[in-house]
Amino acid sequence: MLKAVVLISGGGSNLKAILEATENPEYPVSVLAVGADNDCDGLAHADNYGVPSFVVSPGNFANRAEWAEELLAQIQGFKPDIVILAGFMRILPPAFVRALSPNLINTHPSLLPLFPGAHGVHDAMVAGAKETGVTIHIVDEGVDTGPHLAQAKVEILPEDTEESLHERIKVVERQLLVQVVADIASGKIQLSAN
Ligand code: GRF
Repeated sequence: MLKAVVLISGGGSNLKAILEATENPEYPVSVLAVGADNDCDGLAHADNYGVPSFVVSPGNFANRAEWAEELLAQIQGFKPDIVILAGFMRILPPAFVRALSPNLINTHPSLLPLFPGAHGVHDAMVAGAKETGVTIHIVDEGVDTGPHLAQAKVEILPEDTEESLHERIKVVERQLLVQVVADIASGKIQLSAN
């Protein structure tokens, strides 16, 4: 059983998909805890599944390094095998990444290396791309630059708004994330730093 801590910042639909999957006794992953950088809506999913949660807000710390140290301490208290960034919208400092990588993965709504950063869906539309998608990758010290584990494509339709496109990406993203985490648990996908 792969033991995970999931970090979120928003609605947590990817988290919810993982929690739903864990209801199946054959799904080889358990969620030990959910962490967030703010008191976001997605924390309700943790409550609904009886999973402990914690919030570590940057505003309560003198600087980013101290914030990340506390976040890391909270995570390590659960002794997870893997940490999943599922819509966690903060850049993590190198010391945090070094402490966890390669057992630290992220899901990003574009076909990396295209459109990294916080506005991947918007940037793909503005660039006039015909397709975009989702990338699940190991987190390294850059922004969305780590080794890819899986990708899936999503067509951009002429009538798409950023919202409609992101919703379609998220349908694909949730399935891919649930599958990738299971594949890591089974050893089909191996995490290594290069
Ligand atoms: C996902 O598309 C994730 O890749 C992006 O933000 C979205 C989070 O969605 N960074 P949710 O909170 O899991 O619903």
